[in-house]
Amino acid sequence: MTNILVVNSSALGPHSVSKALVDNTVEKLKLSHPDANIVIRDVGANPIPHLTADNVVPEPETDAQKAARSLSDELIGEVQVADIVVLGAPMYNFGIPSTLKAWFDHLLRAGVTFRYTEAGPEGLLKGKRAIVVLSRGGFYSEGPLQVLDAQEPHLRALLGFVGITDVTYVRAEKLAISPEERESSIAHATTEVEAVVNQVSAAA
Ligand SMILES: Cc1cc2nc3c(=O)[nH]c(=O)nc-3n(C[C@H](O)[C@H](O)[C@H](O)COP(=O)(O)O)c2cc1C
Repeated sequence: MTNILVVNSSALGPHSVSKALVDNTVEKLKLSHPDANIVIRDVGANPIPHLTADNVVPEPETDAQKAARSLSDELIGEVQVADIVVLGAPMYNFGIPSTLKAWFDHLLRAGVTFRYTEAGPEGLLKGKRAIVVLSRGGFYSEGPLQVLDAQEPHLRALLGFVGITDVTYVRAEKLAISPEERESSIAHATTEVEAVVNQVSAAA
């Protein structure tokens, strides 16, 4: 059975473009993986706590420390068992939402999801397929604003660091430029979603 983990991080709920595209991706994946076990983690609607001192103790002792570790373990476990990860990431102030950053702060744990070796760091969450939907008000793929894009490069670094390297990035850009640009961008991203799901399904 295929395990699919869905992570949404928009704060805009039903108005979110990334969530709509992620939902579309999952609906299409379900057609080729009808028995898939799907876990949905919406950190935009239900933010997880940022790291505190309770998270970073080597051995949890107090109830607060144990609860903090238990949540981190659960979040890591969801990724460990996932065959496919579908991630929705809006651009907020050039980067990813702080809620998504908090999720990664829990996920990146030395010795569990990555380790340091003499040859350098090694990601331990290998063998997964990921689809990342990026939404942005402006246009950052090329041109003068490209240098300000701290969203896609950051995600590439974070996912790559834990060993998730088989990733397709679908970009919905220019969403705030004009209604026409928005509509055309969403239509283009929807076509890309279809193409990537076909790829994933063919490989299954
Ligand atoms: C708090 C906030 C910050 C934003 N910052 C940027 C930004 O730096 N650059 C940009 O192009 N769009 C920015 N936007 C626009 C969003 O990227 C755009 O609305 C996108 O559709 C949000 O994704 P979503 O629809 O999945 O929620 C911002 C939106 C919000 C709510």
